[in-house]
Amino acid sequence: MLISGIEALRAAAEGSYALPAINYINMEHLQAIIAAAEELRAPIVIQTSQNAIDYAGFEYLRDIGVGAAQRAKVPVALHLDHGKDLALNMRCIRYGWTSVMMDASLLPFEENVAAVREVTRAAHCLDISVEAELGFIGGKEGDADAGDIYTKAEDACRFFDESGCDSLAIAVGTQHGLYKGEVKIDYQRIREIKEAVGGRPLVLHGTSFVPLEMVAQAIDCGINKVNFDSELKMAGMKAIRGYLAENPDAYDLRKMNRPMMAAMKEVAMEKIRICKAEGKSWLK
Ligand code: G3H
Ligand code: ZN
Repeated sequence: MLISGIEALRAAAEGSYALPAINYINMEHLQAIIAAAEELRAPIVIQTSQNAIDYAGFEYLRDIGVGAAQRAKVPVALHLDHGKDLALNMRCIRYGWTSVMMDASLLPFEENVAAVREVTRAAHCLDISVEAELGFIGGKEGDADAGDIYTKAEDACRFFDESGCDSLAIAVGTQHGLYKGEVKIDYQRIREIKEAVGGRPLVLHGTSFVPLEMVAQAIDCGINKVNFDSELKMAGMKAIRGYLAENPDAYDLRKMNRPMMAAMKEVAMEKIRICKAEGKSWLK
């Protein structure tokens, strides 16, 4: 069932779990993610990055996302991940997404607030949630040379108040994609931000390859939505490589895709469990 991001965030807060949010770029990824959520009876967020939209095409990605969500036996929100410009956010609001992210985190604070406020004004008329980002989460989504700028608790509160956003991605040590060294999360900072914003929803990005116990601890400190992408893709690619090594003459793409989907589903299930979203679907 396709649900609004606002409803998904509300249910997660009431049910004391974090929303697992997983990116897809094609039908097979989507089917693997939905299969994992259905098997565990978990609400889930499926998300499309701007790069995925460029790759698959806006309508195709939307149609398969909406179609999968409507047919799913669990609640599914369709989210725009790291939407960098107003036009794409507005297009997603207009054409079927139930949650968007206005990521203006590279802009100065006031300009970030202004950009998010503009999106929020339109999105809330349609019960669509808006995620924003404050601080700098390193890795592939941004300029890693800019260095990590962690989110400050007092800024986060003012940001929520002035932008009207529904959830906020915070920079607390995670980064997108592979980690060069050991992962370090500033748990104390999460706690301080959570308190400063009066319990409003916080989002953790770049959670692939973060040890599960660290993800669990971040959630305990106040994270309400957790984004996973690269780890699923990597698991899928590994399965494809394994299949091709054993079947070098294979030509039936379906046979190659099956192990990929199984591997991605397995990672998705692990992430759903660590979010404590298992069994939290309210659908019959
Ligand atoms: O916005 C997407 C996420 O933050 C995914 O990051 O690829 O490190 O899991 P990841
Ligand atoms: Zn991200």
